[in-house]
Amino acid sequence: MTTYKIMLLPGDGIGPEIMAQVRRVMTWVEGTYGVSFDITEGLIGGCSYDAYGDPFTDEALATAKASDAIVMGCVGGPKWDGKTAYDKRPEAGLLKLRKQLDLFANLRPAMCFDALADASSLKREFVAGLDILFVRELAGGVYFGEPRGIEDLPGGGRVGINTQRYEDWEIIRISRVAFEMARKRGSRVHSAEKANVMEAGLLWREEVTKLHAAEYSDVKLEHILADNCAMQLVKAPKQFDVILTDNLFGDILSDAAAMLTGSLGMLPSASLGDGGPGLYEPVHGSAPDIAGKGIANPIAAILSFAMALRYSLDMGDAADKIETAVSATLEAGLRTGDLMSAGMTEVGTIGMGDGILNALG
Ligand code: NAD
Ligand code: IPM
Ligand code: MN
Repeated sequence: MTTYKIMLLPGDGIGPEIMAQVRRVMTWVEGTYGVSFDITEGLIGGCSYDAYGDPFTDEALATAKASDAIVMGCVGGPKWDGKTAYDKRPEAGLLKLRKQLDLFANLRPAMCFDALADASSLKREFVAGLDILFVRELAGGVYFGEPRGIEDLPGGGRVGINTQRYEDWEIIRISRVAFEMARKRGSRVHSAEKANVMEAGLLWREEVTKLHAAEYSDVKLEHILADNCAMQLVKAPKQFDVILTDNLFGDILSDAAAMLTGSLGMLPSASLGDGGPGLYEPVHGSAPDIAGKGIANPIAAILSFAMALRYSLDMGDAADKIETAVSATLEAGLRTGDLMSAGMTEVGTIGMGDGILNALG
């Protein structure tokens, strides 16, 4: 029997609630495909800070590195905001994990399930059939650029500093991922930056253009300024196939696109490096406003696990089945509160898990 080593990191807020449903799906995969998951549960974020004074320990990092895949919930919350040293905040634990594993390619598919075409804040005709793939650079840019910090100014007052910084090879490796992904889909890439105001954006545009001409001229490439991209996502989102962008713009644009699919609770992600384990986590955060209430939508987390099956465990068939089961559950009218509309059946986190397990059979 094949055994896969999985590190499970439920994290904070709604993390443990949604990850309990992921565990049920994992058990279904074991029973159906005759594989076994050797699961190590670890701490990340505020819960790790509370236990160890560190949002992601080196021991946990070593376990992550030795896994086949890392499946995470979410981190952060008001309990820690402004109450820890900045480099010990929950989010710093997640950034350490991404950086140390060099997970530079963050894939964020924004798909509108048919049953949810009326759940978006946009009209049905704008979102029905929507299928965008964000390829977000995740290991560089202003998230990690030096110098950074808060300093006292000699003349009095203070300055906050962050540095947007991309070297050519960082742009080339993420662009390659976007072009390769596009070839397997609609063969179109929009590359979003601010070449009009930032040198890092100008270099981005130049390097994407060069790589495209040299190796990917079969793919249709368009450059778009990131602010216009945000507007176009709301105006006519179905014009997009693959959106290639940097760490910060990718964070913002993918949250905006989430609402085209019905809810932030629907968007999964995969973070991949050059070999080594991938990290699979929902795009949403710890949702402190609903944590502990049993009403969080577990679908983004479950679809993230499906991405783990597809990209790290070579079990694409199991991933397809899970995605089909999610679709069938929505077709049957089950909705968590974030997706609720008239005539549908409102269920909690466990109820949605029940529905999906039921559909899996
Ligand atoms: P958030 O994503 O946690 O929540 C935004 C809104 O979406 C809230 O109203 C929330 O209730 C709702 N929501 C999110 N996920 C949902 C789900 N699965 N089901 C139903 N509703 C859902 O963003 P925020 O409030 O800005 O941030 C809260 C905390 O999470 C912060 O500490 C932030 O740093 C952290 N965060 C972590 C991650 C991560 O772990 N990857 C991502 C984003 C934010
Ligand atoms: C995300 C989050 C993270 C980010 C934070 C929590 C570090 O917003 O995964 O989208 O900004 O990348
Ligand atoms: Mn985000």
